[in-house]
Amino acid sequence: ALIDKGNHRHFMQKEIYEQPIVVAQTLRSYLQRFEGKIVLPIPDFDLSGIKRVTIVACGTSFYAGMVAKYWFEQFARVPVDLDVASEFRYRAPVMEEGGLALFISQSGETADTLAALRHARSEKQTIAVVVNVPTSTMAREADLLLPTHAGPEIGVASTKAFSCQLSVLAALAANLAKAKGWLSESEERNIVRQLAEAPAAINGALAYDESIEAIAGVIAGARDVLYLGRGTDYPLALEGALKLKEISYIHAEGYAAGEMKHGPIALIDENVPVVVIAPSGPLFDKTVSNMQEVQARGGKVLLISDYDGVEAAGEGCVATITMPKVHPLIAPIVYAVPVQLLAYHVAVAKGTDVDQPRNLAKSVTVE
Ligand code: G6P
Repeated sequence: ALIDKGNHRHFMQKEIYEQPIVVAQTLRSYLQRFEGKIVLPIPDFDLSGIKRVTIVACGTSFYAGMVAKYWFEQFARVPVDLDVASEFRYRAPVMEEGGLALFISQSGETADTLAALRHARSEKQTIAVVVNVPTSTMAREADLLLPTHAGPEIGVASTKAFSCQLSVLAALAANLAKAKGWLSESEERNIVRQLAEAPAAINGALAYDESIEAIAGVIAGARDVLYLGRGTDYPLALEGALKLKEISYIHAEGYAAGEMKHGPIALIDENVPVVVIAPSGPLFDKTVSNMQEVQARGGKVLLISDYDGVEAAGEGCVATITMPKVHPLIAPIVYAVPVQLLAYHVAVAKGTDVDQPRNLAKSVTVE
């Protein structure tokens, strides 16, 4: 067959492992490595007049959009609205002229996202689409087509499409920052260098597969699991919880680490494992103090951080996963890997149908 699992037990595992290659493949159309330039696949597309970005998507693609919201605001200083597609049209969203409406979809066929796209078109927005299937309806309806080159994704739970979406969105954020005059040449060169290092960093993350498999048991017996993160690690926490729910059928929730004290902390006891996603950096200490609130209540913490972070806060955790130290711009792309592997190994330990989880479809073409 054209598409097979190769040496892998499941498509999901194969697709997790393809990430260094497909991320590199995707970034090729957005980076001019030797010139140190960040570009769009449509070179003369002018982003300088964009006043506001509206991001709409579903599922995992929505969480990629949520990471992008942080990036667009931080790097390009452009305000961003973000919605799940099923809510977008029905809340009478306000879109002014000069807005960019950005739709993110692996399949390019998700009914809610497509309906949202057409609504934004009727409101005179410029339509940008980050999409993996180049022949899809959304690809055809885009003004600015931003392809991911993840190749066919077979596992229902999205993995490689997500990291490729993040790669494109990082490049788009940088392009927008450049068009707005926020990027010096040396900053641009630095961004190109960081993004070009993403595939190697993903490889570095994949090297921890066996140790992640070994700690999957901490999660596999649980009924509820909490994922915590701040900044761009907050959407990653949401994505981690989604992955776990989808394929292991364990109830999981992602929460902004600082919001935990406003509710979920009431759930904490020794039976609720808490996955904390916290690379070292400016937000690290704050997240660690939230983590300590969990530990003080007997909660079992599984910390995903880099070497410095694990050194500083790993004590008292039931398990730690040490990632390579990476630039904040590529951290979400790299930290997606342990989050995916953890869900994968928990599901395998539980014996669920990893590639075809019950009640879920790869592409949802009904509203
Ligand atoms: C379904 C899939 C998810 C996916 C979502 C959005 O729910 O099971 O993995 O994230 O649809 O799909 P799209 O193709 O629009 O990214």
